[in-house]
Amino acid sequence: MSKFTEKDKARLDELISRYPTKKAALLPSLWVAQEVYGGWLPLEAMDEVAQHLELPTADVQGVATFYTMYNKEPRGQHAIEICHNVSCMVLGAEQLIQHCERKLGVSATGETTADGVFTLARVECLGACCNAPAVQVGGTYYENVTAEQMDALLEKLKSAPSEVVTPPQSAMPEMRKF
Ligand code: FES
Repeated sequence: MSKFTEKDKARLDELISRYPTKKAALLPSLWVAQEVYGGWLPLEAMDEVAQHLELPTADVQGVATFYTMYNKEPRGQHAIEICHNVSCMVLGAEQLIQHCERKLGVSATGETTADGVFTLARVECLGACCNAPAVQVGGTYYENVTAEQMDALLEKLKSAPSEVVTPPQSAMPEMRKF
């Protein structure tokens, strides 16, 4: 059954109106679908996008599964993504990842804690290399992150409501430095 409300469909139509073809609106439409479906894209969500954009479902699945920012499985209330590329690795990302794995009792392969609060994942470059190591939680960046700061952040997030990441328009995610 469709989860898209009339308002969601109107949002998709508005997005489509900005592009020369419906297909060109695929990436932002998937962002909308991910938001509607609670932070991930089950097959039904991809199917709904395909129908709305009049595209083969296989085309939509191909795009959604290619990009890591589209989640193919449900995630925890807070998705913690730690960059493990070169700059971050040199400045301690691996130790930070291992610290979080120990602290949360999950693997940074996208596992979610038993209470459903945190999903932990190592990701490719977040584009904040000059302030490595970088961590993204929802739409917020944290930079120059130490293990102590990570502990404080985890404590704070435990009681914080989840953040649904909406489609980026032109702006980068909010940048925050410790
Ligand atoms: S290498 Fe980590 S943000 Fe670029």
